[in-house]
Amino acid sequence: MSSLHYQTKMASQHFLSSICLLLLITLNSFPLEAFADKPSTKLYIVYLGERRHEDPDLVTASHHDLLSSLLGSMEEAMNSIVYSYRHGFSGFAAMLTESLADQIAELPEVISVKPSRSVPIHTTRSWEFLGLNYNQHQPTGLLRQSNFGDGVIIGFVDTGIWPESRSFDDHGYGPVPSRWKGICQTGELFSIHSCNRKIIGARWYAGGIDPSLLAGEYKSPRDSQGHGTHTASTAAGSFVSNVSFHGLGSGTARGGAPRARLAIYKACWVGVGCLDATVLKAIDDAIHDGVDILSLSLGGQLNPYYASIHAAAKGIPVVFAGGNDGPVPQTIANDLPWVITVAASSIDRSFPTALTFGDNQASGQSLFYGSKHDGSIELMDGGSCSAESINCTNVAGKIVLCDDGEPPARAVAADGYLQDVAKRLNEAKAAGVIVARPPLGLLSTCQVLCVNVDRGRRAIILAYVASSSSPVVRVSPASNILGSEVMAPRVAAFSSRGPSVLFPELIKPDITAPGATILAAVRDSYEFLSGTSMACPHVSGVAALLKAVHPHWSPAAIKSALVTTARTTTANGFPIEANGGVRKLADPFDFGGGQIDPNRASDPGLIYDVDPKDYFKYFHCSDDALGSCDLVDHHLYHLNLPSISIPDLKTCVTVFRTVTNVGDTNSTYMAVVKSPSGVKVTVEPSLLQFNCTQKVHTFMVEFTSLQMVQGGFTFGSLTWVDGGKHSVRIPLAVRVIVQDEFSDTS
Ligand SMILES: *[C@@H]1O[C@H](CO)[C@@H](O)[C@H](O)[C@H]1NC(C)=O
Ligand SMILES: *[C@@H]1O[C@H](CO)[C@@H](O)[C@H](O)[C@H]1NC(C)=O
Ligand SMILES: *[C@@H]1O[C@H](CO)[C@@H](O)[C@H](O)[C@H]1NC(C)=O
Ligand SMILES: *[C@@H]1O[C@H](CO)[C@@H](O)[C@H](O)[C@H]1NC(C)=O
Repeated sequence: MSSLHYQTKMASQHFLSSICLLLLITLNSFPLEAFADKPSTKLYIVYLGERRHEDPDLVTASHHDLLSSLLGSMEEAMNSIVYSYRHGFSGFAAMLTESLADQIAELPEVISVKPSRSVPIHTTRSWEFLGLNYNQHQPTGLLRQSNFGDGVIIGFVDTGIWPESRSFDDHGYGPVPSRWKGICQTGELFSIHSCNRKIIGARWYAGGIDPSLLAGEYKSPRDSQGHGTHTASTAAGSFVSNVSFHGLGSGTARGGAPRARLAIYKACWVGVGCLDATVLKAIDDAIHDGVDILSLSLGGQLNPYYASIHAAAKGIPVVFAGGNDGPVPQTIANDLPWVITVAASSIDRSFPTALTFGDNQASGQSLFYGSKHDGSIELMDGGSCSAESINCTNVAGKIVLCDDGEPPARAVAADGYLQDVAKRLNEAKAAGVIVARPPLGLLSTCQVLCVNVDRGRRAIILAYVASSSSPVVRVSPASNILGSEVMAPRVAAFSSRGPSVLFPELIKPDITAPGATILAAVRDSYEFLSGTSMACPHVSGVAALLKAVHPHWSPAAIKSALVTTARTTTANGFPIEANGGVRKLADPFDFGGGQIDPNRASDPGLIYDVDPKDYFKYFHCSDDALGSCDLVDHHLYHLNLPSISIPDLKTCVTVFRTVTNVGDTNSTYMAVVKSPSGVKVTVEPSLLQFNCTQKVHTFMVEFTSLQMVQGGFTFGSLTWVDGGKHSVRIPLAVRVIVQDEFSDTS
């Protein structure tokens, strides 16, 4: 089992922070051998490939037949099957002994049998920042064209929903779309009335999970955790005015597509994570129910491979969080060609917190709102604030300056350090902590008052502590700063980075969206959370708006529109940076095409479309077991995606791309190329003319290495410009390889 991590760093109230820490711990030790039957059985996913029957009941019957032929009884077969997958691919989840799993794997019709693993689940301001300025009565741009996403159905596979949140009020909504085939599955504290014209469907999945692991959870679609409510309200919450977190971030909360409808699939549980078996079933049901968009703020490489390709083939854009393991390279998760993989970035809001010590002032960042710590408080240097050092020091009532030395490689670990220290200090009755650390683009509340300061400030504060006989500090409540003063967006330090380990011939992530310190609904209130989990529903919401305006666009077209119109500069025209150990200019492995720009995405000019058949062709070539590979050259960079990554350029590689005109009928585009350094890129033809008969053009992009030097990736772009409003940009990434066996990682 792979190690588990949670796709969200909680930056909210104490109970949530501690739940999050709890999850980090319990997820790692969760035994998947859930039921201790004899002989011991485990949950397996059996994958049978494409469906052989149109009728879903026949698909399920074939699963029962297959298993009963081995078990000798239909009853036993039906008892061991936990879920039958029948709307996307054909397959099932079943409790099997290892030897039975081996036998099944030998059957000719079976493609694979894998243990079901568990993976972690990966407002008010972010939408204005993205240019979706709403005025409930006079919307403009994409919001107006889409009528706030009215009628589009977004499916969420997450921890459920808190139906009473004001964000899911259905006041003023029309009837549930008649094409909807989903259900409102009831359960603990979730009645048929918990669904309404906003939450039009809800289901929950606990199959294959030992019930003892679900103690304290609602056995229903109700969200005890908060994550699912936060993501759903971010993508599609109704308008709720006067929302804040204790006065911070105050304003009107609403989702990106505030009139879209929600379909809730609770497949993730506190302490358990999201099981392959439950996530696959959720996606299978969502395909059947008729969702228009699938939003998955959950992590890891999982079997949804199988499910997500079928969803995409059925015209459902699948939006995935890219993971929170940044800024370490090659950590990007959910990096499949047919999904939209989302990175997280900051917005133009910050929470400066003034610190006054002696005659000095310093500014930090915090979500400190209280009045509990008025006035000056004794300040001390706590060094690394290890358990031992805090244990031997009297910290009661004091504010302690802490520093974890070398910052850990993963940004979430740095936040984990702060949470640990805060917990320790809380137990020792300290008043608070000032932590010096590199910018993470992530603010949390802690069990004590906690303020982040830049590492450079630490020396100044230390000098004051050393020079004063009774050092004190006064912490002022955080203020909100909004707008162009705040350099934004920046890719968040925690956001997972490419290149993709599985598919270096893809540029992943595809796109970035706000995901740092996002205010949205949790239970009956509103809280700040950070993570690619929060960025993902921003893209889902925009995808819903695009779907409302362009109902016939394929998932590939929607992805193309988002990527080719994304911004690579901030509002003041500076290149977007990426936070990390060192701050640097963001490259495509940090943010794909860049930061989403919803209004531009609705009129992209050209799109790079993909026939779903091509996904299957490459999918079949990715693993011998999956079917016969009938592509001569199955390098993934030949797939018609809105990006090109050549990870192994020796002398010359030629790829083709096809663009479809979705702008003015008569238009002419010219290629503008920024070659990655060390590489010559030529585009042929470099002029594309579209008219009423010529709506599609194929062109060639040739990459030639200019020097025989083994290097890392270098980056560039290809932009088609029509001289007017359209500029259709795709990112390029190239790595020159001199010898196959030569490693760049020494
Ligand atoms: C907003 O909420 C606060 C407290 O939550 C309340 O004091 C204030 O009156 C409210 N303002 C409006 C305009 O409703
Ligand atoms: C803290 O000190 C107490 C006694 O003063 C001791 O029992 C305990 O083990 C110490 N804990 C740590 C983490 O050092
Ligand atoms: C496109 O150009 C053709 C020929 O120049 C012209 O007849 C036609 O009206 C134009 N169509 C549009 C929509 O402008
Ligand atoms: C449309 O454009 C193509 C070239 O892209 C050209 O060969 C063709 O003549 C044009 N047709 C019209 C009606 O202008």
